[in-house]
Amino acid sequence: MASSKNPFNDQPQHYSFSKKFFSYSSYALLLLVFLHFYFSPFSFSPIHHPHSPSNNHILISSSKGVLDKNNIVKKKSCDYSKGEWVRNKLGPSYNGSTCETIKPGQNCMVSGRPDRDYLYWRWKPKQCELPRFQPETFLQLLRNKHIAFVGDSLARNQLESLLCMLATASKPNLYYTDGEENKFRKWFFASHNMNVSIYWSPFLVKGIEKENEGSFNTLFLDSVDERWAADLKDIDMLVLSAGHWYLHRAIYHYGNSVLGCHALENCTEIGFYDVFGKALRTSFEGVIQRKGPSGSAISVFLPTFSPAHFEGEWDMLGACSKTLPYKGNEKALKMMDAEMRRVGVEQVKEAQSKAEKFGSNVRIEALDISELAVLRADGHPGPYMHPFPFANGVPQRVQNDCAHWCLPGPIDTWNEIMLELIKRRAGKLKAKTS
Ligand SMILES: *[C@@H]1O[C@H](CO)[C@@H](O)[C@H](O)[C@H]1NC(C)=O
Ligand SMILES: *[C@@H]1O[C@H](CO)[C@@H](O)[C@H](O)[C@H]1NC(C)=O
Ligand SMILES: *[C@@H]1O[C@H](CO)[C@@H](O)[C@H](O)[C@H]1NC(C)=O
Repeated sequence: MASSKNPFNDQPQHYSFSKKFFSYSSYALLLLVFLHFYFSPFSFSPIHHPHSPSNNHILISSSKGVLDKNNIVKKKSCDYSKGEWVRNKLGPSYNGSTCETIKPGQNCMVSGRPDRDYLYWRWKPKQCELPRFQPETFLQLLRNKHIAFVGDSLARNQLESLLCMLATASKPNLYYTDGEENKFRKWFFASHNMNVSIYWSPFLVKGIEKENEGSFNTLFLDSVDERWAADLKDIDMLVLSAGHWYLHRAIYHYGNSVLGCHALENCTEIGFYDVFGKALRTSFEGVIQRKGPSGSAISVFLPTFSPAHFEGEWDMLGACSKTLPYKGNEKALKMMDAEMRRVGVEQVKEAQSKAEKFGSNVRIEALDISELAVLRADGHPGPYMHPFPFANGVPQRVQNDCAHWCLPGPIDTWNEIMLELIKRRAGKLKAKTS
């Protein structure tokens, strides 16, 4: 269970490693301290814890793609990862009062976040327009399908965004919950016989999560986590979203031996980039093998690393207090963020060619959101991870979440892009069969 000690009690321990890891980047170090707390499933317990819809039948055309009457994208594809955030009068299609699935710590408006500017931006890819999320289109394209989100609390963040947007068109019915903090849940959309589920699996591979902030994770890099993989035969679309738990202290097993460790004293430091790559490889291979050659089809999306925006200490006022996005040239993806993204993209490419060679119907794609996300320092809950943090005046210390995203908020864009990728794929399939 959550330990009741201050998450910074073990800070000196981390800092004793700081010289060794400073070469990684000071940023990675800060994250090591902050995020091991943030991405704990228990991290959002109470304060004293230490630690438009569009009509499916109209023809829509954009500069680069034309949608037919099933909203299938024809023609050119667009690189959604490059672009800029532009102001937009039309706000989100849902809010914390209309959607039931938002985790309290991410329900920023309801928790009293006073500014609203951060809701009025849209991602404008360089090469095309990104349409608003069309819940009807999503539901139609995934009729009779099971979509599973697998990963850490950012997987959950994206899932809840998707559910909120879908709920504007069709009501999800929660029919299964298991695990502390709702770590495993399933919803049924009766209107389209569609199931959406979430599986807690912060490493994707088999692992033992640290029991408290002083301990470390144990990972088995060559074994896929059966908590989700055992259900693969019933899954048609998979969103694998992990990464932040790889920053924590850990020991890494591969086969019968210890490969090395991260931030542990008595064992060889091997960092976490290569380790993360191995875990992704194991996960993708697991999917490919279990679906088998010419087996049933599955779409796999890998959202690339989602940058956090801590400035200074996480419990100081203003740790992420921006209310406007960065402009494109103001903030580039750097260091750890860039490296984690790169590892993800690389593993996706490798897995794509493996899937093809194997003759499988597994389609793997990166959902490359790192660059658009790094610009949205304004989109985090910050102090509103707890409701009304300033109700009794402005305290000296206030906990900030600068890693997850407000709902509604920038993470809605991940799902808008994912829908475009699904449409593109459906278009290709259609072209093949007709
Ligand atoms: C939430 O959305 C509903 C329906 O669109 C609207 O009536 C309400 O004012 C919104 N609430 C906030 C806080 O924006
Ligand atoms: C969705 O889940 C329900 C309830 O378990 C099940 O009856 C149905 O067959 C599932 N549909 C799909 C497409 O997975
Ligand atoms: C390192 O030390 C921890 C306890 O401090 C122990 O559990 C772990 O097995 C050790 N690792 C190695 C590789 O010896």
